[in-house]
Amino acid sequence: MNRLHNKIAIITGAASGQGAAEARRFVEEGAKVVITDLNEVDGKALADQLGDSAIFVSHDVSDEASWQRVVEQCLAAFGGIDILVNNAGIYRQKSLAETDQALMDLHYRVNVLGAFFGMKAVHPVMKAHDGGAIVNISSIAALRGSPGLFAYAGSKWMVRGMTKSAAQDLAQDKIRVNTVLPGLIDTPMLAGNAPEYLEEIKQMVPFKRLGAPEEIADAVVYLASDESRYVTGAEITVCGGMSA
Ligand SMILES: NC(=O)c1ccc[n+]([C@@H]2O[C@H](COP(=O)([O-])OP(=O)(O)OC[C@H]3O[C@@H](n4cnc5c(N)ncnc54)[C@H](O)[C@@H]3O)[C@@H](O)[C@H]2O)c1
Repeated sequence: MNRLHNKIAIITGAASGQGAAEARRFVEEGAKVVITDLNEVDGKALADQLGDSAIFVSHDVSDEASWQRVVEQCLAAFGGIDILVNNAGIYRQKSLAETDQALMDLHYRVNVLGAFFGMKAVHPVMKAHDGGAIVNISSIAALRGSPGLFAYAGSKWMVRGMTKSAAQDLAQDKIRVNTVLPGLIDTPMLAGNAPEYLEEIKQMVPFKRLGAPEEIADAVVYLASDESRYVTGAEITVCGGMSA
């Protein structure tokens, strides 16, 4: 249980769902964690549960200035940054015809700019401290066309592209950048769907069930830890076979 011993991590959108599961797993594996989110109530409660190993910072990933605050508070609390998980994301089910510029902007700002600002913000710190690991959360919606998810899928394709380019750019600074592509995961993000729709999509998964957030956290721990020290620009699908 020491796969992240002495590592310091920032996990965005960690007040709920996959980010919260990652924060718990990271602490179990010996890391110190900065939990960031717009959701202050749940974010603070999780940090309290995790004790001295975690702090909460209120944060909007789409606001570049607030990233500076996250970096400063991480350095002040724990003295470095070894890992960034760009997990925060938003998801709206809309087809091309139903999508307007505001919806495109929203997905671009949170899912794309959020990850970009994060990588920019931690890069100089990681570079100065002999490297680090960045894990960006995309989606299997970014592996092929996804009906009714026009803006979301487009934004998650961009996360894949940014990850591969960043892996090339940051290798010289010993910073690894990888992507996890979750399938259908049982978090508040999917909870808005009608039960009949959830049942229908479960049947599309070869494993016939939704994934648990902890099953994504396991993949993120691997990519954040030194076990993946020769892995960069890689993509791990965690989807019960849905993308096979
Ligand atoms: N649940 C799924 O089926 C699924 C599938 C594929 C990919 N994903 C991706 O996994 C990631 C985690 O999603 P989840 O399933 O845990 O959903 P979730 O809704 O439980 O968690 C997302 C978190 O991001 C936070 N957030 C939203 N906008 C933010 C902002 N501007 N700044 C900071 N925090 C913000 C939310 O408050 C929330 O706590 C997302 O990037 C999502 O797109 C989810």
